[in-house]
Amino acid sequence: MQDLVTEFRTDDGVVHAVDGVSFTIGAGQTMGLVGESGCGKSVTALSIMGLIDHPGRIAGGHIQFEGDDLVGLEFDEMRKIRGKEIAMIFQEPMTSLNPVYTVGDQIAEMAQLHLHMDRKHAWQHAIEMLRTVKIPSPEKRVFDYPHHMSGGMRQRVMIAMAVSCTPKLLIADEPTTALDVTIQAQILDLLRDLQREFQMSILMITHDLGVVAEICENVVVMYAGKVVEEAPVRGIFNTPQHPYTEGLLRSIPHLGMTSAAKLAVIRGTVPSAMNWPPGCRFAPRCNLRYEKCVDDPPLFDVGGQRSACWLCESGRRATSKRSVKAGEL
Ligand SMILES: Nc1ncnc2c1ncn2[C@@H]1O[C@H](COP(=O)(O)OP(=O)(O)OP(=O)(O)O)[C@@H](O)[C@H]1O
Ligand SMILES: [Mg+2]
Repeated sequence: MQDLVTEFRTDDGVVHAVDGVSFTIGAGQTMGLVGESGCGKSVTALSIMGLIDHPGRIAGGHIQFEGDDLVGLEFDEMRKIRGKEIAMIFQEPMTSLNPVYTVGDQIAEMAQLHLHMDRKHAWQHAIEMLRTVKIPSPEKRVFDYPHHMSGGMRQRVMIAMAVSCTPKLLIADEPTTALDVTIQAQILDLLRDLQREFQMSILMITHDLGVVAEICENVVVMYAGKVVEEAPVRGIFNTPQHPYTEGLLRSIPHLGMTSAAKLAVIRGTVPSAMNWPPGCRFAPRCNLRYEKCVDDPPLFDVGGQRSACWLCESGRRATSKRSVKAGEL
């Protein structure tokens, strides 16, 4: 993705949801996309899927996928890629499962459409996919309607649908937020197994830095429609370079915290996407801001990480002593 700009024209003004975002996901890689509510994570994902509808539009940039620029692709061409080459799973499965069809019908339909299977083979494929996502007795469950299943099972069905055409890229938008922690762990294990089996790339969108530590290799941190930091997962936890990333990490409770210890908070709130502050967008909330922050910082290279903070202009910033170990999350 290069300089992606996605905006929504509303009666109240233009919402600059994604404002010049660039990152690359390698084949077979898992990239985490994190950031506070409203920073543009879902809009980034929907832009890749070609699902930005009126009043939204991609106003600039490129999304290169296997040699094609997805920006500006004809509707029919995008339909061939969506579901087949790039698939997406959402936080709440009921928004993408159709309540009036059995789960078998819904997976089989994908196979008929994209893999050109006849009805019989597509139905068999649906059973196989339910087995792949470890749903017990798939020959029976294939006849279930979504509302007959638990939340965790429905999420598995959605994953089965998403991977049924062995996509090259799977986008998972908060796939475990609505689930309890035991089921969440199972779903993450499943995604990891499927990734290995199908050699997919995964874009994992999450609020949860625990999920990031668990499954991502690289992480993009977004703030106010922009990328503020990009780094291998170890770098994000051990040597965060952007004050916002550091703030996110310090706001995680950890075992061994005394009852007197208070969680650090990032003061203030995310500014409005209709009216981003000038210069560094994080500056109004940043304890480290100085004169330079009235200018918009580019992403600086700092030893394998990228950080959009002026303090990183001449190299790595010394960050707080207590780094967060993945095991603490
Ligand atoms: N259809 C729309 N019309 C107008 N504004 C929109 C639309 N969809 C998203 N936005 C705005 O775009 C910005 C980014 O939204 P987005 O859904 O990408 O946030 P997010 O990072 O996914 O947040 P969350 O963590 O809450 O899911 C927000 O200000 C949101 O209000
Ligand atoms: Mg979202």
